[in-house]
Amino acid sequence: MNKPKRGSFGSKFGAIAAIGGSVVGLGNIWRFPYLAGENGGAAFILVYIIVSFTVAIPVMLSEFAIGREAKRNAIGAFKKIAPASFWPFLGSLGIATALVIMTFYSVIAGWSLQFLLDSLLNTFDGWSAEQVKQHFNHFAQSGYTPIVWAIVYVSATAFIVISGIEKGIERYNKILMPLLVLIMVLLVCYSFSLSGFEQGVRFLLYPDFSQLTPTVIMEAVGQAFFSLSLGMGCMITYGSYIKKQENMVHMAATVALCDVSVAVLSGLMIFPAVFSFGISPTSGPELIFITLPNLFSQMTGGYLISILFFLIVFIAAITSTVSLFEVVNAYIHEEFSIGRKRATLITTLMVITLSSMCALSMMANSPIRVMGDNLFIFSDNLASNFMLPIGGLLIVIFAGWFMPKPILEQQLTNSNTVNKRSYRFFYIMIRFVSPIMLALLFLHISGII
Ligand code: TRP
Repeated sequence: MNKPKRGSFGSKFGAIAAIGGSVVGLGNIWRFPYLAGENGGAAFILVYIIVSFTVAIPVMLSEFAIGREAKRNAIGAFKKIAPASFWPFLGSLGIATALVIMTFYSVIAGWSLQFLLDSLLNTFDGWSAEQVKQHFNHFAQSGYTPIVWAIVYVSATAFIVISGIEKGIERYNKILMPLLVLIMVLLVCYSFSLSGFEQGVRFLLYPDFSQLTPTVIMEAVGQAFFSLSLGMGCMITYGSYIKKQENMVHMAATVALCDVSVAVLSGLMIFPAVFSFGISPTSGPELIFITLPNLFSQMTGGYLISILFFLIVFIAAITSTVSLFEVVNAYIHEEFSIGRKRATLITTLMVITLSSMCALSMMANSPIRVMGDNLFIFSDNLASNFMLPIGGLLIVIFAGWFMPKPILEQQLTNSNTVNKRSYRFFYIMIRFVSPIMLALLFLHISGII
């Protein structure tokens, strides 16, 4: 039997661009600033950074190791490494989480397209804050226009994914990620010139620890997992495309550094503007869609800044959605032996259905509600604060305690050729530190300790 050859990332830069493209997303540019703004700034950011480098990197390495060892999708990988066990269930949880995240992610990313168009048309020119707010609310609650954008957006994602790993995912990420960083640096340079720069930096850098409640800590952990694309098999899927000679420890460290840097850059891009115009940073998920357009319309050069800003929101989002999409796509393609193109079509239809329901549930008086919330709030909260940290905990437990030990060692040391010393460190992190910290966190949040 001649199986078609499985795809892989062609070069080291390509792999880092693709994985970097996954981690850097709406999580950095939309979610991070509004959560940091709501949760008091620096203290929240500090917890997010500490969690990223202590608890999260071991989860990422575990996912990489599982993926590259099995060379399968998120469910298939567990089936191969731990057949006839309960573990493939963890892969199913991952596929479900990918769908839950794409439900709201595609809607928000669709908004960025509407705002990109508005920016190009200079819609907000001369508008008052109240007008921008009404425009946003009218748009977001109109149901149908956001659905059209979500469909356009998901189709663009499918277009990238359909061409395969190296020729699709890797190729676009190699172009889009450097472009993203370049535009962000330009925007941060512009930020330097604003009167609120110092206040913005202070907000990002000087922690006020009285702000650290258990809820804030939980949100910071959720944010770290979300932003690093962890806890649901995304890095298992991408790990399965990493070539055997690549150094995965370097890769994980580089990617985590990129993620945290882009989050901080995006804070530097947004908060100085917010403070320059004397606005409170606590406006929640609408921060970048109401507060910023309003500011852009008052800034010198605001027309161009606005276009560039919504362009990077779109770029960041699409490279991440590609990775979420590929989790489901690879699963359908490999486990049901369906051709890649047909699998992409099936995934597209599923994601369009889910995100349309999410957009409809945001309409005023919409009957689509789960536990009193619209689908957007419900799916974000469910995925980020519960499914990802729980998935992450189970993944490190699997990698540290149930996967045969030589697998982890071979994967992290490339069969004993690199990282021999750091392997011992990460082994302890994966086996003990990461799971214990995550377990303590859950016990604390649930009020047991
Ligand atoms: N990390 C991406 C962001 O910051 C979103 C994302 C992509 C993701 N793949 C994921 C989140 C897997 C959780 C799990 O926007």
